Amino acid sequence: MAIKKFPGFIDVHVHLRDPGATHKEDFQTGSRAAVKGGFTFVIDMPNNPTPTISPEALQEKIRLAEQKSIVDIGFHYGTDGQNTETFKTVIDNEKVFGLKIYCNYTTGTLLVEDQLLWNNIFREWESKKPILVHAEKEKLPYMIALSKKYNRHLHVCHISLTEEVSMVRRAKEIGIYISAGVTPHHLFLTEKDVNRLGSLAMMKPPLGTQADQEALWKGLRDGTIDLIETDHAPHTKEEKEKTPAPFGVPGLETAVGLMFKAVHEGKISEREVIKFFHDNPARIFNVPTHENTFIMLDPDQSYIMGEDGYETKCHWSPFDGWKLYGQIQMVVIKGKTILEKRKLI
Ligand code: NCD
Ligand code: ZN
Repeated sequence: MAIKKFPGFIDVHVHLRDPGATHKEDFQTGSRAAVKGGFTFVIDMPNNPTPTISPEALQEKIRLAEQKSIVDIGFHYGTDGQNTETFKTVIDNEKVFGLKIYCNYTTGTLLVEDQLLWNNIFREWESKKPILVHAEKEKLPYMIALSKKYNRHLHVCHISLTEEVSMVRRAKEIGIYISAGVTPHHLFLTEKDVNRLGSLAMMKPPLGTQADQEALWKGLRDGTIDLIETDHAPHTKEEKEKTPAPFGVPGLETAVGLMFKAVHEGKISEREVIKFFHDNPARIFNVPTHENTFIMLDPDQSYIMGEDGYETKCHWSPFDGWKLYGQIQMVVIKGKTILEKRKLI
């Protein structure tokens, strides 16, 4: 057993809820949760109550993040299909890392289901920065076809079903510019866990079957799935206990411990953890890296999740009480120590 150095991890998919839903999370608590979990760079999603679909909303987020965050935060711009004229204003902004399209119903108001609008969005996003899609099942082939038509980089978010893994694999085989991410909750939970956890295990896309889960692990190992994204989607416990409960689970503080549990169980290698949490997200989203940004942890050391509380404002996790591995001991960002002996400074 030994504490080792790893590059600062990158999470390309978080919902930090700032501005508009800061009773769930804000840039301060969300960035603290990121550091506690080993992430030194996160990219925030646009589905706020006032969605990030205008240059003004984007500037407001950038301003708030600069004020409150203890890590660097990038942003995915959003679209409702009507704001394509604003793309040219934000596309080259160095804080923008991609464009998000919601093709399925989830938290927020950004659902776009119209094929004509999808087409316009792909045509107008004239950039190498990825178009990220929330596209379940039968929606995914449309996105793949549009990525081919306009030669845009497509990133498939939180892939969760066997058939989606197959679609991405086939698209890669025929040379489509595509990448895919999977969440730790889809890798470690199945629909059966909903019996135990109730609404705390409800999120979009929903948890799949054990066969789906096996397909996801296979996809990770054979390179079909490129990275792990937490889809950190905090809601308060009170909100989750209401009917209907909002969709989403927090993930920033549990993701790395879960993946080192997978290493401990021989499911993946330590090298692959670095690939999924650093190398591939940095390459695919062109995230700036810094030689003096790193984290320290002991991959063989176990700990109980939640024993020392949570930094996320929602203060819960579907993995509470789980035995995980590789608790983050130290975090240094651009030469500055942010976390030492497991405590935020
Ligand atoms: C996310 C949220 O709450 O913002 N919820 C979720 O279940 N994943 C939205 C999303 O990414 O779909
Ligand atoms: Zn999400």
